[in-house]
Amino acid sequence: MPQVTVTEHLLLHQKQSPSATGRFTMLLNELILAGKIISRDVNKAGLVDIVGFTGTENIQGEKVKKLDRFANEVLIHRMERAGVLCGMASEENADLIPIRDKFPKGDYMLLFDPLDGSTNIDVNINVGTIFSILRNKNFDGSGASLSDMLRPGVEQVAAGYIMYGSSTILVYTTGNGVHGFTLDPSVGEFLLSHPNLTIPEKGKIYSVNEGYWNYWDKPTQEIVSWFKDPDGKRGAPYSLRYIGSLVADFHRTLIYGGIFMYPADNRDPAKSKGKLRLMYEASPLAMLAEQAGGMASTGKRRILDIVPEDLHQRVPLFIGSRDEVQKIQETYSKYA
Ligand code: AHG
Ligand code: MN
Ligand code: MN
Ligand code: MN
Repeated sequence: MPQVTVTEHLLLHQKQSPSATGRFTMLLNELILAGKIISRDVNKAGLVDIVGFTGTENIQGEKVKKLDRFANEVLIHRMERAGVLCGMASEENADLIPIRDKFPKGDYMLLFDPLDGSTNIDVNINVGTIFSILRNKNFDGSGASLSDMLRPGVEQVAAGYIMYGSSTILVYTTGNGVHGFTLDPSVGEFLLSHPNLTIPEKGKIYSVNEGYWNYWDKPTQEIVSWFKDPDGKRGAPYSLRYIGSLVADFHRTLIYGGIFMYPADNRDPAKSKGKLRLMYEASPLAMLAEQAGGMASTGKRRILDIVPEDLHQRVPLFIGSRDEVQKIQETYSKYA
Protein backbone atom coordinates (compact mmCIF):
# COMPACT_ATOMS: atom_id res chain seq x y z
CA MET A 1 0.00 0.00 0.00
CA PRO A 2 1.54 3.40 -0.91
CA GLN A 3 2.54 5.43 2.17
CA VAL A 4 -0.39 7.78 2.90
CA THR A 5 0.27 10.09 5.85
CA VAL A 6 -2.42 11.50 8.14
CA THR A 7 -2.01 15.02 6.73
CA GLU A 8 -2.25 13.79 3.13
CA HIS A 9 -5.32 11.68 3.94
CA LEU A 10 -6.97 14.58 5.77
CA LEU A 11 -6.42 16.97 2.88
CA LEU A 12 -7.42 14.48 0.18
CA HIS A 13 -10.28 12.61 1.78
CA GLN A 14 -11.86 14.59 4.58
CA LYS A 15 -14.43 17.21 3.61
CA GLN A 16 -13.21 20.21 5.59
CA SER A 17 -14.03 23.87 5.09
CA PRO A 18 -10.83 25.23 3.47
CA SER A 19 -10.24 27.69 6.31
CA ALA A 20 -10.49 25.01 8.99
CA THR A 21 -8.20 22.47 7.33
CA GLY A 22 -5.03 24.34 8.24
CA ARG A 23 -5.95 24.83 11.88
CA PHE A 24 -7.35 21.33 12.27
CA THR A 25 -4.22 19.85 10.69
CA MET A 26 -2.15 21.83 13.22
CA LEU A 27 -4.25 20.40 16.06
CA LEU A 28 -3.99 16.84 14.77
CA ASN A 29 -0.26 17.07 14.16
CA GLU A 30 0.41 18.29 17.70
CA LEU A 31 -1.83 15.50 19.03
CA ILE A 32 0.16 13.02 16.94
CA LEU A 33 3.46 14.37 18.31
CA ALA A 34 2.13 13.93 21.85
CA GLY A 35 1.10 10.39 20.93
CA LYS A 36 4.58 9.58 19.62
CA ILE A 37 6.17 10.86 22.85
CA ILE A 38 3.78 8.85 25.01
CA SER A 39 4.29 5.78 22.79
CA ARG A 40 8.05 6.07 23.21
CA ASP A 41 7.75 5.91 27.00
CA VAL A 42 4.98 3.29 27.06
CA ASN A 43 7.22 1.08 24.93
CA LYS A 44 10.04 1.49 27.45
CA ALA A 45 7.82 1.00 30.54
CA GLY A 46 9.70 -1.27 32.88
CA LEU A 47 13.04 0.09 31.74
CA VAL A 48 12.40 3.67 32.80
CA ASP A 49 10.86 4.76 36.06
CA ILE A 50 7.41 5.25 34.54
CA VAL A 51 5.42 2.32 35.94
CA GLY A 52 3.73 2.13 39.30
CA PHE A 53 1.86 4.74 41.27
CA THR A 54 2.49 8.41 41.97
CA GLY A 55 1.01 8.10 45.44
CA THR A 56 -1.67 10.69 44.57
CA GLU A 57 -5.39 10.37 43.78
CA ASN A 58 -7.27 12.12 40.96
CA ILE A 59 -10.72 13.70 40.85
CA GLN A 60 -12.10 10.27 39.98
CA GLY A 61 -10.85 8.93 43.32
CA GLU A 62 -8.39 6.73 41.42
CA LYS A 63 -4.75 6.20 42.36
CA VAL A 64 -2.77 8.00 39.63
CA LYS A 65 -0.14 5.94 37.81
CA LYS A 66 3.12 7.58 36.80
CA LEU A 67 2.19 7.10 33.16
CA ASP A 68 -1.23 8.71 33.70
CA ARG A 69 0.56 11.81 34.94
CA PHE A 70 3.29 11.70 32.29
CA ALA A 71 0.79 11.32 29.43
CA ASN A 72 -1.34 14.11 30.89
CA GLU A 73 1.61 16.50 31.19
CA VAL A 74 2.80 15.73 27.64
CA LEU A 75 -0.64 16.39 26.17
CA ILE A 76 -1.24 19.61 28.11
CA HIS A 77 2.25 20.93 27.30
CA ARG A 78 2.01 20.16 23.59
CA MET A 79 -1.60 21.14 23.01
CA GLU A 80 -1.38 24.45 24.89
CA ARG A 81 1.22 25.50 22.29
CA ALA A 82 -0.76 24.33 19.28
CA GLY A 83 -2.26 27.83 18.94
CA VAL A 84 -5.70 26.49 17.93
CA LEU A 85 -7.39 25.79 21.28
CA CYS A 86 -9.41 27.94 23.66
CA GLY A 87 -9.70 25.29 26.36
CA MET A 88 -8.99 21.67 27.32
CA ALA A 89 -10.29 19.07 29.76
CA SER A 90 -8.67 15.88 31.01
CA GLU A 91 -9.67 12.88 33.11
CA GLU A 92 -6.75 13.77 35.38
CA ASN A 93 -7.76 17.42 35.96
CA ALA A 94 -10.74 18.36 38.12
CA ASP A 95 -11.44 21.58 36.20
CA LEU A 96 -11.31 22.98 32.67
CA ILE A 97 -7.67 23.57 31.62
CA PRO A 98 -7.26 27.15 30.29
CA ILE A 99 -4.83 28.18 27.54
CA ARG A 100 -2.46 30.71 29.15
CA ASP A 101 -2.49 34.19 27.59
CA LYS A 102 1.09 33.88 26.34
CA PHE A 103 -0.15 31.32 23.78
CA PRO A 104 -2.37 32.16 20.78
CA LYS A 105 -5.89 30.74 20.95
CA GLY A 106 -8.25 29.21 18.39
CA ASP A 107 -11.88 28.04 18.50
CA TYR A 108 -11.24 24.32 19.05
CA MET A 109 -11.68 22.64 22.45
CA LEU A 110 -9.91 19.35 23.25
CA LEU A 111 -11.05 16.82 25.84
CA PHE A 112 -9.01 13.71 26.54
CA ASP A 113 -8.35 10.63 28.60
CA PRO A 114 -4.56 10.85 28.55
CA LEU A 115 -4.01 7.23 29.41
CA ASP A 116 -6.89 4.78 29.29
CA GLY A 117 -6.49 1.36 30.87
CA SER A 118 -3.70 2.46 33.17
CA THR A 119 -4.25 -0.45 35.57
CA ASN A 120 -2.87 -2.59 32.74
CA ILE A 121 0.35 -0.70 32.05
CA ASP A 122 2.43 -2.64 34.59
CA VAL A 123 1.55 -5.93 32.88
CA ASN A 124 2.21 -4.88 29.28
CA ILE A 125 -1.41 -4.86 28.14
CA ASN A 126 -2.53 -2.26 25.57
CA VAL A 127 -3.36 1.21 26.83
CA GLY A 128 -4.40 4.29 24.89
CA THR A 129 -5.20 8.00 24.67
CA ILE A 130 -8.79 8.94 23.80
CA PHE A 131 -9.62 12.41 22.43
CA SER A 132 -12.68 14.46 21.56
CA ILE A 133 -12.64 17.74 19.61
CA LEU A 134 -15.37 20.38 19.81
CA ARG A 135 -15.62 23.88 18.34
CA ASN A 136 -16.50 26.80 20.62
CA LYS A 137 -19.51 28.49 19.00
CA ASN A 138 -19.04 31.50 21.31
CA PHE A 139 -15.31 31.92 20.57
CA ASP A 140 -14.37 35.60 20.75
CA GLY A 141 -10.61 35.25 21.07
CA SER A 142 -10.75 34.56 24.81
CA GLY A 143 -10.74 31.28 26.71
CA ALA A 144 -13.67 28.83 26.67
CA SER A 145 -16.00 28.71 29.65
CA LEU A 146 -17.27 25.47 31.17
CA SER A 147 -20.69 26.00 29.56
CA ASP A 148 -18.98 26.48 26.16
CA MET A 149 -17.43 23.02 26.70
CA LEU A 150 -20.38 21.03 28.09
CA ARG A 151 -21.73 20.11 24.64
CA PRO A 152 -23.36 16.82 23.48
CA GLY A 153 -21.26 14.33 21.55
CA VAL A 154 -23.28 14.97 18.40
CA GLU A 155 -21.46 18.34 18.17
CA GLN A 156 -17.96 16.78 18.08
CA VAL A 157 -16.02 17.81 14.96
CA ALA A 158 -13.59 14.93 15.43
CA ALA A 159 -12.86 12.04 17.79
CA GLY A 160 -10.39 9.21 18.06
CA TYR A 161 -7.79 7.31 20.00
CA ILE A 162 -4.13 6.34 19.88
CA MET A 163 -3.57 2.81 21.15
CA TYR A 164 -0.13 1.77 22.43
CA GLY A 165 0.32 -1.96 21.94
CA SER A 166 2.14 -4.41 19.68
CA SER A 167 2.07 -1.44 17.31
CA THR A 168 0.92 2.14 17.90
CA ILE A 169 -2.24 2.93 15.96
CA LEU A 170 -4.23 6.15 15.51
CA VAL A 171 -7.94 5.68 14.73
CA TYR A 172 -10.04 8.81 14.20
CA THR A 173 -12.94 10.39 12.36
CA THR A 174 -13.80 13.93 11.28
CA GLY A 175 -17.32 12.84 10.38
CA ASN A 176 -16.35 11.27 7.07
CA GLY A 177 -15.79 7.65 8.03
CA VAL A 178 -13.25 6.07 10.38
CA HIS A 179 -9.63 5.61 9.36
CA GLY A 180 -6.68 3.85 11.02
CA PHE A 181 -3.01 4.78 10.77
CA THR A 182 -0.13 2.69 12.11
CA LEU A 183 3.06 4.31 13.40
CA ASP A 184 6.13 3.32 11.41
CA PRO A 185 8.81 3.99 14.04
CA SER A 186 11.57 3.85 11.40
CA VAL A 187 10.25 7.04 9.80
CA GLY A 188 8.25 8.38 12.79
CA GLU A 189 5.07 8.74 10.72
CA PHE A 190 1.57 7.36 11.13
CA LEU A 191 0.75 5.72 7.77
CA LEU A 192 -2.71 4.72 6.53
CA SER A 193 -3.29 1.06 7.40
CA HIS A 194 -7.06 0.75 7.93
CA PRO A 195 -9.01 2.99 5.48
CA ASN A 196 -12.79 3.25 5.97
CA LEU A 197 -13.15 0.99 8.99
CA THR A 198 -16.71 -0.35 9.43
CA ILE A 199 -18.16 -2.39 12.31
CA PRO A 200 -19.80 -5.69 11.20
CA GLU A 201 -23.61 -5.41 11.41
CA LYS A 202 -23.72 -8.34 13.85
CA GLY A 203 -20.97 -9.85 15.97
CA LYS A 204 -20.09 -13.03 17.87
CA ILE A 205 -18.28 -11.47 20.86
CA TYR A 206 -19.61 -9.79 23.99
CA SER A 207 -17.29 -7.88 26.29
CA VAL A 208 -18.16 -7.06 29.90
CA ASN A 209 -16.68 -7.52 33.39
CA GLU A 210 -18.93 -10.36 34.58
CA GLY A 211 -17.52 -10.01 38.06
CA TYR A 212 -20.17 -7.36 38.69
CA TRP A 213 -23.10 -9.62 37.71
CA ASN A 214 -24.73 -9.37 41.13
CA TYR A 215 -24.78 -5.56 40.97
CA TRP A 216 -26.38 -5.11 37.53
CA ASP A 217 -29.99 -4.22 36.77
CA LYS A 218 -32.37 -6.85 35.39
CA PRO A 219 -32.16 -5.82 31.69
CA THR A 220 -28.35 -6.12 31.78
CA GLN A 221 -28.51 -9.54 33.45
CA GLU A 222 -31.12 -10.69 30.91
CA ILE A 223 -29.09 -9.59 27.89
CA VAL A 224 -25.81 -11.09 29.18
CA SER A 225 -27.65 -14.39 29.81
CA TRP A 226 -28.91 -14.20 26.23
CA PHE A 227 -25.35 -13.92 24.89
CA LYS A 228 -24.56 -17.20 26.66
CA ASP A 229 -27.47 -19.03 25.08
CA PRO A 230 -29.08 -17.06 22.23
CA ASP A 231 -32.79 -17.89 21.84
CA GLY A 232 -32.57 -20.58 24.48
CA LYS A 233 -32.05 -23.34 21.95
CA ARG A 234 -28.52 -23.99 23.16
CA GLY A 235 -27.53 -22.13 19.98
CA ALA A 236 -23.96 -21.05 19.36
CA PRO A 237 -23.14 -18.82 22.31
CA TYR A 238 -21.16 -15.61 21.91
CA SER A 239 -17.52 -15.61 23.00
CA LEU A 240 -16.55 -13.46 25.97
CA ARG A 241 -13.48 -11.25 25.57
CA TYR A 242 -12.59 -8.62 28.19
CA ILE A 243 -9.20 -6.90 28.30
CA GLY A 244 -10.01 -4.21 30.86
CA SER A 245 -8.61 -1.40 28.69
CA LEU A 246 -11.53 0.41 27.07
CA VAL A 247 -9.48 1.42 24.02
CA ALA A 248 -8.35 -2.18 23.41
CA ASP A 249 -11.83 -3.65 23.99
CA PHE A 250 -13.34 -1.00 21.70
CA HIS A 251 -10.71 -1.48 18.97
CA ARG A 252 -11.42 -5.22 18.88
CA THR A 253 -15.17 -4.47 18.72
CA LEU A 254 -14.60 -2.01 15.86
CA ILE A 255 -12.63 -4.55 13.83
CA TYR A 256 -14.35 -7.86 14.72
CA GLY A 257 -17.83 -6.61 15.68
CA GLY A 258 -19.89 -7.58 18.70
CA ILE A 259 -20.57 -5.48 21.76
CA PHE A 260 -18.67 -3.84 24.60
CA MET A 261 -20.63 -3.11 27.77
CA TYR A 262 -19.87 -1.18 30.93
CA PRO A 263 -23.25 -1.18 32.69
CA ALA A 264 -24.16 0.81 35.78
CA ASP A 265 -23.77 -1.19 38.95
CA ASN A 266 -25.32 -0.68 42.39
CA ARG A 267 -22.30 -1.77 44.46
CA ASP A 268 -20.16 1.39 44.24
CA PRO A 269 -22.14 4.68 44.46
CA ALA A 270 -19.57 6.26 42.11
CA LYS A 271 -20.62 3.74 39.48
CA SER A 272 -24.38 4.03 39.91
CA LYS A 273 -24.36 5.66 36.47
CA GLY A 274 -21.58 3.47 35.14
CA LYS A 275 -17.80 3.88 35.44
CA LEU A 276 -16.93 5.35 32.07
CA ARG A 277 -16.88 9.10 31.55
CA LEU A 278 -19.17 10.65 28.95
CA MET A 279 -17.08 13.49 27.56
CA TYR A 280 -13.71 11.83 26.98
CA GLU A 281 -14.52 8.11 26.80
CA ALA A 282 -18.12 7.35 25.77
CA SER A 283 -18.76 10.31 23.41
CA PRO A 284 -15.61 10.06 21.27
CA LEU A 285 -15.98 6.28 20.94
CA ALA A 286 -19.69 6.72 20.18
CA MET A 287 -18.84 9.07 17.28
CA LEU A 288 -16.39 6.47 15.95
CA ALA A 289 -18.93 3.65 16.38
CA GLU A 290 -21.68 5.53 14.52
CA GLN A 291 -19.29 6.69 11.77
CA ALA A 292 -18.31 3.02 11.33
CA GLY A 293 -21.97 1.93 11.01
CA GLY A 294 -22.41 0.81 14.63
CA MET A 295 -24.29 2.24 17.62
CA ALA A 296 -23.62 3.52 21.14
CA SER A 297 -26.26 3.71 23.85
CA THR A 298 -26.76 3.93 27.61
CA GLY A 299 -29.30 1.12 27.06
CA LYS A 300 -32.01 3.76 27.05
CA ARG A 301 -30.52 6.74 25.15
CA ARG A 302 -28.17 7.44 22.25
CA ILE A 303 -24.83 8.46 23.82
CA LEU A 304 -24.27 11.31 21.36
CA ASP A 305 -27.54 13.03 22.36
CA ILE A 306 -26.65 13.40 26.05
CA VAL A 307 -26.01 17.00 27.12
CA PRO A 308 -23.31 16.82 29.82
CA GLU A 309 -23.90 18.51 33.19
CA ASP A 310 -20.35 17.90 34.40
CA LEU A 311 -16.94 17.36 32.74
CA HIS A 312 -16.54 14.00 34.52
CA GLN A 313 -20.12 12.78 34.23
CA ARG A 314 -20.33 8.96 34.00
CA VAL A 315 -22.72 6.96 31.80
CA PRO A 316 -23.53 3.30 31.25
CA LEU A 317 -22.06 2.29 27.87
CA PHE A 318 -23.26 -0.33 25.37
CA ILE A 319 -21.33 0.11 22.11
CA GLY A 320 -20.60 -1.90 18.96
CA SER A 321 -22.51 -3.74 16.23
CA ARG A 322 -25.94 -2.37 15.38
CA ASP A 323 -27.67 -5.72 15.90
CA GLU A 324 -26.42 -6.24 19.45
CA VAL A 325 -26.91 -2.64 20.62
CA GLN A 326 -30.48 -2.70 19.27
CA LYS A 327 -31.06 -5.93 21.24
CA ILE A 328 -29.93 -4.14 24.42
CA GLN A 329 -32.27 -1.21 23.73
CA GLU A 330 -35.20 -3.59 23.06
CA THR A 331 -34.48 -5.37 26.34
CA TYR A 332 -34.37 -2.10 28.27
CA SER A 333 -37.61 -0.90 26.67
CA LYS A 334 -39.34 -4.13 27.84
CA TYR A 335 -38.61 -3.00 31.41
CA ALA A 336 -39.52 0.65 30.88
P1 AHG B 1 -8.82 4.75 32.95
O1 AHG B 1 -7.60 3.88 33.00
O2 AHG B 1 -8.72 5.87 31.92
O3 AHG B 1 -9.22 5.27 34.31
O4 AHG B 1 -10.02 3.86 32.39
C1 AHG B 1 -10.20 2.62 32.93
C2 AHG B 1 -11.50 2.04 32.47
C3 AHG B 1 -11.47 1.48 31.06
O5 AHG B 1 -10.21 1.51 30.47
C4 AHG B 1 -11.90 0.04 31.25
O6 AHG B 1 -12.89 -0.30 30.32
C5 AHG B 1 -12.46 -0.01 32.64
O7 AHG B 1 -11.81 1.02 33.36
C6 AHG B 1 -12.23 -1.32 33.32
O8 AHG B 1 -12.91 -1.24 34.55
P2 AHG B 1 -13.04 -2.56 35.49
O9 AHG B 1 -11.65 -2.83 35.97
O10 AHG B 1 -13.99 -2.15 36.56
O11 AHG B 1 -13.58 -3.67 34.62
MN1 MN C 1 -8.23 6.66 35.34
MN1 MN D 1 -10.26 5.61 30.50
MN1 MN E 1 -7.33 7.40 31.99
